[in-house]
Amino acid sequence: MCGIVGYVGRANSVPFLIEGLHRLEYRGYDSAGVAVATSRGVRTLKRAGKVRELEGVLPKRLRGTLGIAHTRWATHGVPNDTNAHPHCDAAQRIAVVHNGIIENAATLRAQLLSRGHELVSDTDTELLAHLIAASRESNLLQAVRDALGHIEGTYGIAVIDADQPDHIVVARNGSPVVLGIGEREMYVASDVAALVRHTRQVVHLDDGELAVVREDGFETSTLDARPTAKQPSTVSWDVTSYERGEYDHYMLKEISEQPEAAARTLSGRIEQRFDTAHLGGLNLTAREILDVRRIKILGCGSAFYAGLLGAHLLETLTRIPCAAEAASEFRYRNPVIEKDVLYLAVSQSGETLDTLMAVQEVKRKGGRVLGIVNAVGSTIAREVDGGIYIHAGPEVSVASTKTFTCTGLAFALLALHMGRIRDLGPSDGRRLIDALEGLPEKIGQIIARAPEIERTAARFASAGNLFYIGRTGTYPIALEGAQKLKEIAYIHAEAYPAAELKHGPLALVSPEPPTVALVPDGPLLEKSLASIEEIKARKGPVLAVGHDRETLQALSDAVIDVPKTEPELDPLLLNIPLQLFAYFAARTLERDIDQPRNLAKSVTVE
Ligand code: G6P
Repeated sequence: MCGIVGYVGRANSVPFLIEGLHRLEYRGYDSAGVAVATSRGVRTLKRAGKVRELEGVLPKRLRGTLGIAHTRWATHGVPNDTNAHPHCDAAQRIAVVHNGIIENAATLRAQLLSRGHELVSDTDTELLAHLIAASRESNLLQAVRDALGHIEGTYGIAVIDADQPDHIVVARNGSPVVLGIGEREMYVASDVAALVRHTRQVVHLDDGELAVVREDGFETSTLDARPTAKQPSTVSWDVTSYERGEYDHYMLKEISEQPEAAARTLSGRIEQRFDTAHLGGLNLTAREILDVRRIKILGCGSAFYAGLLGAHLLETLTRIPCAAEAASEFRYRNPVIEKDVLYLAVSQSGETLDTLMAVQEVKRKGGRVLGIVNAVGSTIAREVDGGIYIHAGPEVSVASTKTFTCTGLAFALLALHMGRIRDLGPSDGRRLIDALEGLPEKIGQIIARAPEIERTAARFASAGNLFYIGRTGTYPIALEGAQKLKEIAYIHAEAYPAAELKHGPLALVSPEPPTVALVPDGPLLEKSLASIEEIKARKGPVLAVGHDRETLQALSDAVIDVPKTEPELDPLLLNIPLQLFAYFAARTLERDIDQPRNLAKSVTVE
């Protein structure tokens, strides 16, 4: 989704701005632009398409020690050069970049037009530039404050004024803004990924805050001009964690990193003495855990599917009824919030707007909500009453891989912790701890078989449609597997609980659409094998993913077998080959794997 970068200091801002834009490309965007303050006003260059197309039109001599830049993901108006940010006032004095949506844009547009303003784009952001320029306040901070007073909606903005070329004004309401502290230079971004090569000392703005950022420091204040105090924090990941290194794609890098990422999620969290897990940030006492009567999990996309898996794990191990729901639906259906229900918000980025709004809805009604989040210091992490950081490290590829796995592990740790306070005995606790500790190595064994999975994926990549089937704990994995294939290979795939096949989709089974069947050993194996027989009886091709190669081979057209762990954790291992399957299918079809069309890594608008 949209990205912001800004620079104020003594050096030329342009190289930093362009590098920053490249670092934000992973978020998904459709146009890009840069504005630099010069002695003759703001110089703005914008292009639809990729950052490298913008680079192609930048004059070699473009220089300036104050600048802002943006990658845009279209909301108001099609992606073209004019609608790209930055946006300026008529005199080209003020330039604005903006993430978020101005909800009263239509009213503001009508008012500005009636007052004689000439607007060139279809965007809501241009209105902001005009409002700032039209303010009676001459000081940029005051003028921005004044303009924001007319705005309803969400924003993260950075503004420069060619007449006051020693500072940037930034403001935040619902869209992240981070300041980076350098040596006699300061940076601004919507995402620390743009900053880490230059500084790891950062300041996260809160909603309703503005900042004046100069080369030698910054001051923050609220919309009603009360000063606020901010403590810089240190980003734990260095620049190499954000780089692709030797890998062809971030997605492959992140799939391959899963053994170490999983080990980090588990690190320091096993309490051998009591055969349980210890979770420092949970803020939930044993007595409070005894009082929980139900658990509700909220998230979007892969985070929602990880939540479905989490619900299965939690209900199995704690015997507390547990369900997951798409946060985007939950927030709009006036949900009943009860005080003995524990709410869990799942989000890799910690910035997904629908999940954030669901958290706020729970809190507004007095519910207790914890987070399972990857991005430290993100909005959701700060909004919740406690929770678990998954410590997967930065995830750059739009398609979630390592964060899905690490979120699943975090759920397993939570289920172990809560289960051991309730009905789960020490021998089950020990059994699960041994299995959890062995998982990173088993994940590595599956990844080592990538060449074999690549060959299988190449065989199936020409299919126009696929079914994915699973049962109980593997149904969320079927959903996630199908999602990966849709996202990056652009192949339509639909997931079903295996037994639901005969209630409709079997009508489509023929020699055409292949089915990826998740068939782990366990009490449901016979039933899952029967589902495969049903498909084979209609000549449907089957790729079976499970444990017992021989049995599966006798029934299916292709098999991927994975190492076994404890049954509760098997789904996490079964997911790994599906990630590789989608990746290699997309590669066979030469897709833009890390930046799939129309998608964004972090969806900060509705
Ligand atoms: C976007 C991404 C998905 C992700 C979802 C939730 O749609 O493309 O990969 O699963 O957002 O993101 P979150 O950061 O909240 O986990």
